[in-house]
Amino acid sequence: MKLLILGAGGFIGSNLSSWLLKHRDWDIYGMDLNSGNLADCLGHPRFHFTQGNIIIDKKWVEEHIKKCDAVLPLVAIANPALYVQNPLAVFELDFEANLDIVRHCVTYKKRIIFPSTSEVYGMNPDSPYDEETSNLVVGPIKKERWIYSCSKQMLDRVIYAYGKRDGLPFTLFRPFNWFGPRLDNVWEEGKASRVVSQFLSNILHKRDIVLVGGGAQKRCFLYIDDAIDALVRIIENKNGNADGRIFNIGDPKSEASIAGLAEMMIDIVGVFPGFENIRSQVKITTAIGEEHYGAGYQDVQKRVPKIDNAIQYLGWKPTTGLQDALRQTIAYYLA
Ligand code: UGA
Repeated sequence: MKLLILGAGGFIGSNLSSWLLKHRDWDIYGMDLNSGNLADCLGHPRFHFTQGNIIIDKKWVEEHIKKCDAVLPLVAIANPALYVQNPLAVFELDFEANLDIVRHCVTYKKRIIFPSTSEVYGMNPDSPYDEETSNLVVGPIKKERWIYSCSKQMLDRVIYAYGKRDGLPFTLFRPFNWFGPRLDNVWEEGKASRVVSQFLSNILHKRDIVLVGGGAQKRCFLYIDDAIDALVRIIENKNGNADGRIFNIGDPKSEASIAGLAEMMIDIVGVFPGFENIRSQVKITTAIGEEHYGAGYQDVQKRVPKIDNAIQYLGWKPTTGLQDALRQTIAYYLA
C-alpha cells in the first residue's frame, strides 16, 4: 500500500506515520511545512518526506495522488482562535486547497479519507450527534468561528456528491476533541492553542487558566492512540466497510466540562516532581468568549458523538479513559 499523507508533520499525521512505520509495511509519502514532529520517522526507508506547501507545490501533490493508493489530506487550520483571527486563511486552506485535492482524487480514481470535524454539528442541541440524521447548525455570518465548520461541511457534501456521481471512493471521519502528544507546542506562550495544550501551557508557565464563558461547556475528549486505531481501521477498510461512510471518532464516555478539565489537569501535573505546589501557583479565572477570542467567537455547549457506526463497521471502540490519557500526555510533554 502506498499512502499519501498531506500534513504528515501535524498532530494527526505525525502520530499516524510513526505508528504505521512500526506496525505496517506500507510506504508513506508525506508533505508538510514542518518536520519537527517527525524525528522518529525521518530517515526510515519507507517514509518518503518532502518539506513543502500544498498551495505552492501543486505539481508534487498531483503526481503523488496519481502514484498512491489512498490519500489523507490532513492539511488544515483547526484552531478556533484562528477561525476568528483569519477566517479567509481558513477558507483558502481548509476549503480551496483541499478542493483541488478532492478533484485530483476524482480524476485519478483514488480513495480519499477526509477529515471532516465534530464542528460540522455546530450548535445542534441533540446529544449524541448522529452522522446520518443530526442537523448541522451554525451561527450568523458575523460569528466568523463557523467558517471552519462551513468549509469542512461543504467539502463533506462535495465529496459525497462526487462519490455518487463519479464513483469517488471515500470515507469521512469526524474527530471529536482528539488530544495527546504533539498536539500543540505547550512551551510557547500565547492563547491560541486547543484547550488541553492551552491549559497545560498555562500550568507549566504558572499563568492563569482562563475558562472562556465560565467553563460549564462540555467536550468529549479522545486520546490520540485510540484515534489512530480508528484511522488505521478506516484505511485498511476490511470488506469495504468504510466505503462511502461517515464516522464520528470520539469517546462519549470521556465527557468533561472545561472547568472540570482544568481541575483534573492541575491535579495531574501536581503529581510530577517539581510541581507539588502547582495548585497554589495557578489561578483559574473566567472571560467572555468575545473578549478572549474576538467578536466573531461563539461556543458549543455540549458535543457528544454517537459512535455506533465505528463500532459496527470498524469494530472500533475507545479504550483509554480521560484521566489516563491526560496523564500520558502530560508525561510526554514533561519528559
Ligand atoms: C475544536 C477545534 O475546532 C478543532 O480542533 C476540532 O476540529 C474540533 O473542535 C474537535 O477536535 O472536535 P473546540 O472544541 O471548541 O473546537 O476547541 P478548543 O479550542 O479545544 O476549545 C474547547 C473549549 O475550551 C471551548 O469551549 C473553549 O472556549 C474552551 N477554552 C479554550 C477555554 O475555556 N480556555 C482556553 O484557554 C481555551
